[in-house]
Amino acid sequence: MKSAVATPRQDARIVMNLEEAIRTRRSTHYFRPGPAISQVQWNKLFELTELSPSSFNFQPWDFIVVDDPERRKQLHPLCWGQKQVLESAAMVAVLGDKNPHRRDQQVLQQFHDNGYIDESTRNAYLQAVDVVYPEEGRRIEHAVGGACLAAMTFMLAAHGMGLATLPMIGFDPEGVRRFLGVPDEYLVTMMMAVGHSANQELPRQQRRGIDDIVHWDRFGQQRT
Ligand SMILES: Cc1cc2nc3c(=O)[nH]c(=O)nc-3n(C[C@H](O)[C@H](O)[C@H](O)COP(=O)(O)O)c2cc1C
Repeated sequence: MKSAVATPRQDARIVMNLEEAIRTRRSTHYFRPGPAISQVQWNKLFELTELSPSSFNFQPWDFIVVDDPERRKQLHPLCWGQKQVLESAAMVAVLGDKNPHRRDQQVLQQFHDNGYIDESTRNAYLQAVDVVYPEEGRRIEHAVGGACLAAMTFMLAAHGMGLATLPMIGFDPEGVRRFLGVPDEYLVTMMMAVGHSANQELPRQQRRGIDDIVHWDRFGQQRT
């Protein structure tokens, strides 16, 4: 399927079907100038993004949108000088929260109030939070896993709205953290360029193939 570069819809409607969106999303390295992303579009993007799943529904993600051109100029050297920082319409820092448990009372109360769990289970879960995420390593995994799921939702929603994205790991995490004023409890898991594709991407690189990535019943076992 050809890479689809739709015209961004300022009304933020998504008309692409899911398979088409997954098959045609690309990491965009060539942006063109275009209109600023409207507040309606941002709202729709983040409304859809926050429907991503997360452990205990803790939602361990936050986002910092940098669309001011001057701020992006300053961000540019912190992102290994990647030109997309300057050429896209905005950069979004995708943060993973190492301590989303600060909301545990509120989150577990919702589970209780919405009829998922009774009071004793709620109390047991409140204790379990520290058991499930006992140390820094597990908290980092949780933060990165949650933030990455949200980032994927964001990319597909943006693509469906006719916007192009580039997820980026090529940046100085400490430099970006300081520049954006991110507290220590959060990781900058990814920088995401968002904007208008110039439709100049090279063909997509091949994937490993399902025989290589899927194991049946145990690691290394193929289905014949
Ligand atoms: C976590 C992550 C980090 C990435 N970092 C960069 C980056 O710093 N610079 C870049 O040009 N591409 C980056 N990419 C894009 C990948 O090269 C791209 O996703 C991959 O080649 C597959 O291409 P596709 O997304 O068009 O299917 C990153 C992708 C991911 C998921």
